[in-house]
Amino acid sequence: MFYETSKRDHGLPHDPFKAIVAPRPIGWISSVSADGIPNLAPYSFFNAVSSRPDLVMFVSDGVKDSVTNIRQTGEFVANYVSAEFAAAMNESSIDAPNDVNEFELAGLGREPSRLVAPPRVAGVAAALECRMTQMVEPVDLQGNWVGSVMVIGQVVGVYIDDAMIRDGRFDVGFARHVTRMGYRDYHGPEGYFQMQRPRWQDDNPSK
Ligand SMILES: Cc1cc2nc3c(=O)[nH]c(=O)nc-3n(C[C@H](O)[C@H](O)[C@H](O)COP(=O)(O)O)c2cc1C
Repeated sequence: MFYETSKRDHGLPHDPFKAIVAPRPIGWISSVSADGIPNLAPYSFFNAVSSRPDLVMFVSDGVKDSVTNIRQTGEFVANYVSAEFAAAMNESSIDAPNDVNEFELAGLGREPSRLVAPPRVAGVAAALECRMTQMVEPVDLQGNWVGSVMVIGQVVGVYIDDAMIRDGRFDVGFARHVTRMGYRDYHGPEGYFQMQRPRWQDDNPSK
């Protein structure tokens, strides 16, 4: 089959694009608002873009709380997602108002970072402490802003749980990483699995 994206005539029940650009690592982004409220959310439009210096990026589809916070404070942490944290990571993706602390919502502990204000998720295998270098507003072929924001940050500090280092290497088998596929699909150490995203309205119908 072949389809032109402008015509959206793939004839499939769901858009296959994200299933093709997969697996994607998940940047589990912690930030802090100007008022000091911690925020946590997963972003699978996430990757490394340079290694000298170490730069990572994530893309917010719309201007989400993480972007607002980082615009105000200039700092974030990209937490590593292991299988043990998959359910909590999913919970933290809830579309909660920006005064809600997703650490508390997902029952997660916080550990202070060394060089930046946002905390890391307690117990993660690794975390990248970042200072924002750029916010890019991607455009389409007509030059129109598509509505998303790419946040690029320089990694200024790297936390690694010592237990994850074997033979001098960060061992991804030990770290039991989870990656994002398309649709509701994920891939972890036990193979493929699915998770449905929580919705704030489902749990808070009056809000
Ligand atoms: C595994 C996973 C990956 C996600 N990746 C993205 C992404 O790349 N970009 C995005 O805008 N939202 C993504 N989301 C949705 C956000 O996590 C969600 O909108 C969240 O509420 C944003 O939080 P914030 O407003 O606190 O930043 C993802 C959700 C999940 C569960």
